[in-house]
Amino acid sequence: MKLFSARSALLSLVAVATALTGCMRGGTSSEPPVHLVLDMDFQPKLRAQAKTEFAGWPDGRSMRAPVADPFGKTLVVAQGSLPDPKLANRTAGNAFVTQNPVPVDGRVLARGQEMFDIHCAVCHGYSGQGGNHPQGGHGLVGRRWPVAIPNFHFVDGADNRVPQMPDGEFFEVITHGKGTMPAYGARIGVEDRWAIVHYIRALQRLSK
Ligand code: HEC
Repeated sequence: MKLFSARSALLSLVAVATALTGCMRGGTSSEPPVHLVLDMDFQPKLRAQAKTEFAGWPDGRSMRAPVADPFGKTLVVAQGSLPDPKLANRTAGNAFVTQNPVPVDGRVLARGQEMFDIHCAVCHGYSGQGGNHPQGGHGLVGRRWPVAIPNFHFVDGADNRVPQMPDGEFFEVITHGKGTMPAYGARIGVEDRWAIVHYIRALQRLSK
């Protein structure tokens, strides 16, 4: 008898608890369910389009404005009366120009190095010595590339076609790619492509 009442008391307690927490099967309720396990469902946060008092963002917006020029595509060169560098890789006679239209200075060279190290070194190596250079002057990707990665440096007895290419042709290869090399025209700004050509020339001068 005593045992029975203890058990029924326990059962009714479970029933009440179940009803209270709203998890009785088939039951409906217009109330939101009781949240026993919070699972970080409630937390302080900033909502999109909302205002914030956060002092670090003086414009008072909870959303941040997109970063301007995230890939550093714009190189502001003191251009003066430069010809349009986009069109300047070929002459009117359709030959490649030999003269880089962007004037070189320390800043342009540094920019060229930065862009070369980001975009070209994985294949051509930081030194520009190509994928199969015996001294390991190759990029991590270039060393496994199915096609030999050309060397930008002059080598005695080699045909030296690539190191001799005019500036405009380097620009062309960067812009449109060549063979199995991908095109970088969509990823590297015009002035930056010319800056890379300046940097390759500087690398060549080191090995001459
Ligand atoms: C994913 C690897 C890869 C990357 C990155 C790469 N190249 Fe190349 N590049 C190649 C390959 C492969 C060739 C040889 C293509 C062929 O002849 O089929 C080549 C060839 C060249 C040539 C010689 C073209 C010719 O006429 O024979 C130049 C110049 C060149 N790359 C410059 C660059 C520059 C500058 C960059 C950076 C903006 C760059 N490459 C990035 C793989 C790459």
